[in-house]
Amino acid sequence: MKWESFQSKVPGKWVLAGEHAVLRGAAAIALPHPELGLSLRFEPGPAGGGIEVLPSEGAEPILEIIAALPEAGQISGRLEIESTIPWGAGLGSSAALCVALARWFSGPLGLSAAALPDFATKLENRFHGKSSGMDIAVILAGEPVRFLRGQNAVPLGIRRLPKFTFHDTGLRARTSLCVAQVEVYLREHAERGAYLDQLMGCASREAEEGLSLYGSGQSGEGLRLIAQAMARGQQCFEAWGLFPDSVRGLRQDLLERGALAAKLTGAGGGGMLVALWDDPDRARSW
Ligand code: MEV
Repeated sequence: MKWESFQSKVPGKWVLAGEHAVLRGAAAIALPHPELGLSLRFEPGPAGGGIEVLPSEGAEPILEIIAALPEAGQISGRLEIESTIPWGAGLGSSAALCVALARWFSGPLGLSAAALPDFATKLENRFHGKSSGMDIAVILAGEPVRFLRGQNAVPLGIRRLPKFTFHDTGLRARTSLCVAQVEVYLREHAERGAYLDQLMGCASREAEEGLSLYGSGQSGEGLRLIAQAMARGQQCFEAWGLFPDSVRGLRQDLLERGALAAKLTGAGGGGMLVALWDDPDRARSW
């Protein structure tokens, strides 16, 4: 196994529609984040020198992952991770790290491109418990995708996207706890829970159609469908109890300033609100 100089840059991700319901078979529409990302750089060092991970604050889980590799003792050098993706904000911070690590490991371990999604998803399960694999899939694809659990992500081939902006609610919630909350909701309100999953699936179909129409120049109808999809997604977050009351003011503010829609993205409970705009100038005033 040869551990040579390596570097990789990957984007964060966000979800336009399909969160949570994707765990039970609904489609989700996920996109790479346009600005936030993570870069990984490895420089080999003298044999037996061990591995240094920088920044040292985030080193522990990375060292654990490396220690679990076959012949981990052979790796020596300096691994540097730089990320602009905030942790725990639903923007794929851990998935981006796992994709970058999987890409780094793929040469020495002889992993094929086809094996990467599974390998990276298993790494991510260390952070989140069992995930749908969606975050890994969209970050690997590096473009907007339709994702169904257990299947390869389908790139949507969209070349022109409307203007979305991202707004930090300042709140953080663990994905595993949000997933558990929706499971409790489903146990306690089986019928309504099944309806919400269907509503989220419907949001994903509308979101995909809206993106496709917008991308092909039918901006008005495209925006209408995307806004409708986002409103449905938001309705699901509210019904699941994953939309904190303290975020209502920020969402209202966005809508009053002309956003066509605003919803939580990711697992909910906090993290980021994403807003859709028809007028890039109004979006820029944020
Ligand atoms: C998190 O971005 C989306 C969830 O559906 C979890 C998952 O798909 O693994 C809540």
